Amino acid sequence: MNKRAMTGFSSAIMLAFSLMLTSCSGSQSDAGENSETAETEAPVTEVTEAVTEVPSVYVEVQNSDIHRGDLILVNRDNEYSDGSNPNIVNIYENKSDSYKVDRSYMELDKTMIEAINSMLDDFAAKTGITNILCNSGYRSYDEQKQMYDEDLENTGLLESDLVAPPGHSEHHTGLAMDFAIDDGYEYPALRNEGEYSWIYSNAAKYGLILRYTEQNKHITKYRAESWHFRYVGPVHASMIYRMGVALEQYEGFIKDFQYDNPLEYKYSDTEFYRIYYVPMDMTSEKTSIPIPYECLNNNGAEWPYTVSGNNSDGFIVTVKIPELSPDYDETFLYMFGAGAETVMPSDDYSSEDISSSEDETTGEDAGEDSQDESGDAENEAGNDEDTGW
Ligand code: DAL
Ligand code: ZN
Repeated sequence: MNKRAMTGFSSAIMLAFSLMLTSCSGSQSDAGENSETAETEAPVTEVTEAVTEVPSVYVEVQNSDIHRGDLILVNRDNEYSDGSNPNIVNIYENKSDSYKVDRSYMELDKTMIEAINSMLDDFAAKTGITNILCNSGYRSYDEQKQMYDEDLENTGLLESDLVAPPGHSEHHTGLAMDFAIDDGYEYPALRNEGEYSWIYSNAAKYGLILRYTEQNKHITKYRAESWHFRYVGPVHASMIYRMGVALEQYEGFIKDFQYDNPLEYKYSDTEFYRIYYVPMDMTSEKTSIPIPYECLNNNGAEWPYTVSGNNSDGFIVTVKIPELSPDYDETFLYMFGAGAETVMPSDDYSSEDISSSEDETTGEDAGEDSQDESGDAENEAGNDEDTGW
């Protein structure tokens, strides 16, 4: 990095980027220098000593992008108000051959499909099993409303503990998938048992977390769902899995780390990350996101980074760094007193219980789960709308 050249940047230029994965290897015009740094007219190395260990530059994001990215938190409290994920594509046209999809028109976020492809390709290679069924992916507001209303009607409850209210389902984002097993007969929900346990132990490597567990139902306010997986990306999935926390807890935890006091994470022996939260600038329509100057692609000093909204009040920045601080300490992984195994669903439910509970109570999911009604499980593309699903 030519540090003197860095001082030549004087203004932050709006970055019209997708928050899904924002790479620092993009155009140099995407970022400008910290205004403090610019005013000094001094080499960045001097500013480094005076201001912070790592001089910063800024990228600007639209505050409306708070609803976009892998880490958006959608739950009872946080509505998914964007509804326009541009990366939602048809699953059948983008899937690998290692699993099945319930309906040919089913859609999902492209990154999520790639994660499922990788995971289930590896699962099939390891076990020879290719009968996992993508049962419910992206859902529109109206689809969710129908499911929700039917669940209330069926249960007589005032509030469902199985189906999210319309507008509040992760399925709206395209980042969630319900898995079942195509046994050619009952199509039970995926469950953490037998060879399928591999998926629960390895999902995080592909960026997926099991979202609703016995252990976190007091936080999510939903019943454990052994079938519902959510994409958050491998780095965050790894931490969530190892910490044994709900996504809600994790995002609260991350808020304690800001640019000047970031969290560091040893993802593997060779991959390290710096993670921090940036509150949304309520006084403007845009928020300036500080990033280390190494994130600029100057003279090869590249630190890839991503920015995701949290769907609530700020942004989470994830920067790949070449090395950890000497005092790196990962006891934070155990601060919640939970281990990886605690994110597993308990064995309280039989697969019949799980399958039938959603079948009987969620309307559209009932059709999705009970694929035997169509008799068309082998013909993935044949599950067309005429079946009524
Ligand atoms: N079953 C989950 C909570 C949903 O409806 O999104
Ligand atoms: Zn689900």
